[in-house]
Formats: sequence, structure tokens, C-alpha cells
Amino acid sequence: MSENATTQPPAILIIDDTPANLGVALEYLSEHGFDVGVARSGEAGLECAVSAPTDLILLDVMMPGIDGFETCRRLKANAATAEIPVIFMTAQTDTEDVVNGFEAGGVDYVTKPIRIAELMARINTHLGLHIMRKQLAEHNEQLSATIARLKETQAGLVQADKLASLGAMVAGIAHELNTPIGNALIMATSLEDAAVNFNAMITGKELRRSDLTAYAQRSQGMAEIVTRSCQRAANLIISFKQVAVDQTSEQRRRFDLHTLVNDNIAAIRPSFRSAPWVIEADVPVGLDCDSYPGPLGQVITNLIQNAVTHAFDGRDSGTLRITTLLKAYFVEMVFQDDGKGMESAVLARIFEPFYTSRLGQGGSGLGLSISLNIVTGVLGGSLHATSQPGSGSRFVINFPLIAPTAPNVSV
Ligand SMILES: Nc1ncnc2c1ncn2[C@@H]1O[C@H](COP(=O)(O)OP(=O)(O)OP(=O)(O)O)[C@@H](O)[C@H]1O
Ligand SMILES: [Mg+2]
Repeated sequence: MSENATTQPPAILIIDDTPANLGVALEYLSEHGFDVGVARSGEAGLECAVSAPTDLILLDVMMPGIDGFETCRRLKANAATAEIPVIFMTAQTDTEDVVNGFEAGGVDYVTKPIRIAELMARINTHLGLHIMRKQLAEHNEQLSATIARLKETQAGLVQADKLASLGAMVAGIAHELNTPIGNALIMATSLEDAAVNFNAMITGKELRRSDLTAYAQRSQGMAEIVTRSCQRAANLIISFKQVAVDQTSEQRRRFDLHTLVNDNIAAIRPSFRSAPWVIEADVPVGLDCDSYPGPLGQVITNLIQNAVTHAFDGRDSGTLRITTLLKAYFVEMVFQDDGKGMESAVLARIFEPFYTSRLGQGGSGLGLSISLNIVTGVLGGSLHATSQPGSGSRFVINFPLIAPTAPNVSV
């Protein structure tokens, strides 16, 4: 609200070359709490409106110098005075005058001789509207400022989130690689010590057969640990590298979806042979795809592996149902588990690279981000997840039977 409107009486500027003609109106306004100013020409009125706070202008039409219409046009052309409501005072009542007044930017008109009650009604209406408009403009400004601040905050949060993801990623990689590399290093050092001791034995006292056998056995054991640890580190690095699937290296061919799904289940089964988990696949025979069986198989394996590792972990039983539905030329593949499900905060992040709830327990957090890449990239489809804590999770892949031909895909 304008200072004028809240703390001071409303300021009314009367622009009229003969204000005496207004009769008692002038006095009435002053007596009824208005701060009344008078200018005797259009030019003088323009100056007053700029130099003193003005809430409303009563403007005579016929004046020497610039007339009321021109004065009004100039008031409207100046940003400092454009918002002040102007009420014309005219002796003539013909419509042309009224139309001219509105065209020049006036909001209303009163006819002379002035009738106090009518004048007051019009002044009060337009002052009220003017004040409301000002309030609205101020609120709008505040809203815009708030929105701008919110946007800044949001941008900052996104940035902070990215940094947090990067931090988690670096911590994840470091943590995962630390164990195998650390083990390999310890074993390699012990192997070196053993070799130095053995060397000393050879050059020093006589070497007994039992010394030789012990050394051979120890070094074999240590070398095996070194190999296993390096293999684990190498596997981790391979999975880190798979973040972006190299489309050109993937083979496109025709294949039967039923066979592909069952082959992949058969390949992953041995890794949890003794566990009570049930994997049920209900994929009809004869769904002929022209796509990329390698990457699709990787997605299927990731989703099965996730159900086993995350959904069924710590439970006595668990079932993963894989079903398919053909919708025109698209296949909808649903992976529904009855495991522990996910909190919404987890669900919101599962497709982020390196997001894992098993940091330091073998999870690299790449499975789902690689799967999403494959499905939306090379397969030309989509991958969505829904889940509720305690009610299992549902992953849905949609992909065309005939994969799109990407220019960088070798066929
Ligand atoms: N079926 C599921 N039930 C419950 N939680 C799941 C399920 N699938 C995925 N998640 C959650 O999503 C996270 C991300 O999964 P993602 O496959 O990307 O990584 P990961 O399995 O932890 O590690 P990686 O796949 O690289 O070994 C998991 O850590 C887990 O918290
Ligand atoms: Mg996974």
C-alpha cells in the first residue's frame, strides 16, 4: 500500500483554470479529510503530479494551453504519473467528449455543476480501486521476488545434490576398491618377505625338503589371494566403466524373448542356488524381437539380482514374477517382487549412478542407472519403478519389438 494511502490523507490534485467554478466541492473535500492541491493549467498540473504524491486527479477539459485530454495523455505517458486515476470534469455532456476522455486514459467523468454526492461516490470508488491495484502490484512484486529466491534456492539444492552424489560416488568407488587392492597389497608384501627369507635359506644353511614344500604352499596361497583380489578390483572397474553402454559394440539380431529371459534366469540361478527365492517367468513363446539381446539380458539380470540382493535380503521367502504383455509393437515386461520394498526417499534416487543402499557391501549403485541407459538408449524404450515399504517393488520395462536404428549402432 502506498505511504499516502496508509499514513496520510488521500491526496487529490484538481487541475482547473477556474477552480472557483467547482463551488463548494473544493471546500467539502478539504473538510472531509482529503489533502487537496490545485493547479491552474495542464502544464502546472503535470508538474504537481510529478513533484507531490498524488492519489487521484480531477481534471478540467477546457483550459487555456494544453487541454484536459492532452494533459491526461501526458500523465499516462509518464511512468511516474501513469497509474494515477484521472476523473474528468466537463461541462459538456455529449458522448464524444466522454469517449475522448476515456481514450485519453481517464477512468471516469463528472459533469459541472458538480454534485457533491456523485463526486464523492466516484472519488471513493476510484481511490479504492487505485489502492487495491497498488497493493496487488506490490504483492505481485513480492511474489516475483519470492519465486526468484525459490528458484535460486532450488538451483543451489540441485547443485548441492549433484555434489553430494559425486561425493558419494567417489566414496563408493574408493570404498569398494580399497578392500581388494588393500588385500592384494598385503599379500604381495608377504609374498615378497617370504621370497626374501627363502632366498636367505638357499644361500645359507642347507635347504630341507620340508622348507621347500612350505614355501611353495604358502606362496601359492598368497598368490591366489592376490589374483582373486585383483580380479575383484578389475570386475569393479569393468562395472564402473559400463555406465555408458557402448552401443556400437552391441550385436543386434532377431531372438525369441521367452528363450532370452529363461537363459538369463538359468545363468544367474547358480549364484543363489541354495536360497529359497522363486523366480517365475511367464513369457509366451514366439515373441520375436529384432533388438539387442546382450544389453536386454543385462537389464533382466540386474533386475533379478536386485530382487535377490535387496528385496529378499534377510527374509525366509521371496518370489519374483516376470510377466510380459504385448501392446501393439511394444513389449511391457513387469518384474514384480514381494520383498521388502522401498521408502519413497530411496525410490526417488535408485536410477542415480552410484546410488546404493549397500555401500561397502558389494553394491556399486550402477545396476539400475546402467539398465535405464540401456532401455532408454539402445532399446528405445522406458523403465519405471514403483514401490512401497513392505509391499514389494515393481519394475516395468517398455520396449519396441523392433529396436530403433541409431546412426551409431552397428547392425
Ligand atoms: N527390488 C528391489 N527391492 C528393494 N530395493 C531395491 C530393489 N532394486 C533396487 N533397490 C534399491 O535401489 C538401489 C540401487 O540399485 P542398483 O541396482 O542401481 O545398485 P545396487 O544394486 O545397490 O548396486 P549394483 O547393482 O551396482 O551392484 C539399491 O541399492 C537398493 O536400495
Ligand atoms: Mg543392483
